[in-house]
Amino acid sequence: MMIDTHCHLSKKDYPDLENVIKRMDKNIMIVSGADMQSNYEVIELCKKYPNIYGTIGIHPSEVDEYNKENIEWIEKQLENPKIVGIGEIGLDYHYEGFDKELQKNIFIEQITLAQKYHKPIVIHSRDAIQDTYDILKEHHVEEMKCVMHCYSSSLEMAWNFVKLGVKLGIGGVVTFKNAHRLVEVVREIPISSLLLETDSPYLTPEPYRGTRNEPYNIYYVAQKIAEIKNISQEKVLEETTKNAISQFDLDSEL
Ligand code: NI
Repeated sequence: MMIDTHCHLSKKDYPDLENVIKRMDKNIMIVSGADMQSNYEVIELCKKYPNIYGTIGIHPSEVDEYNKENIEWIEKQLENPKIVGIGEIGLDYHYEGFDKELQKNIFIEQITLAQKYHKPIVIHSRDAIQDTYDILKEHHVEEMKCVMHCYSSSLEMAWNFVKLGVKLGIGGVVTFKNAHRLVEVVREIPISSLLLETDSPYLTPEPYRGTRNEPYNIYYVAQKIAEIKNISQEKVLEETTKNAISQFDLDSEL
């Protein structure tokens, strides 16, 4: 079994969504929301497909959607056993015009909400790794379950997160030709701290880079990790599946 721990399955990207999901028949997907529209879609997908779980939250690039009404809605959905975490949440300093303090406040509020409901958090961090780490450490992330989605920073930083018990989501980027730093991270960090993800429809792994991504391509991420760690692909799938089940408290009896 394979578990794609982070993907986006919006109808606008997948007119053929039924088939995309069917290809993951014996496998599990954790679909991530980022704004309210995608959060609503996550709830619908969880209802419809036994092998789909979800996380919901407000992404740092969508902070204008953060208001009392929306956050109350999110809080209410946390009673749904198929909503297995809050995400993606975090910090994104990549594009001009962002409000650092606002992003931090909204990030912290959603961490606090996850703690209240004992839910894992799924973190998006872009050009903001030090602030992300400082906030997680300050808010005692070692006492909760946390995933750094699409990890792509240094090995040194990776160890800092792993020491806090954080798992690293590894996606298609690891298959790219110039991914030397991430290859080093995957080689050095024990597999017990790694999770597989696609971030579909983005970041398609080789040999399909440049086309639309889909959860089944997790297969190629697992293959690359096996190559880097010099273990079998079966072992990678077995270990990362175990990690994902325990990280998100999934029902493995599909
Ligand atoms: Ni994502």
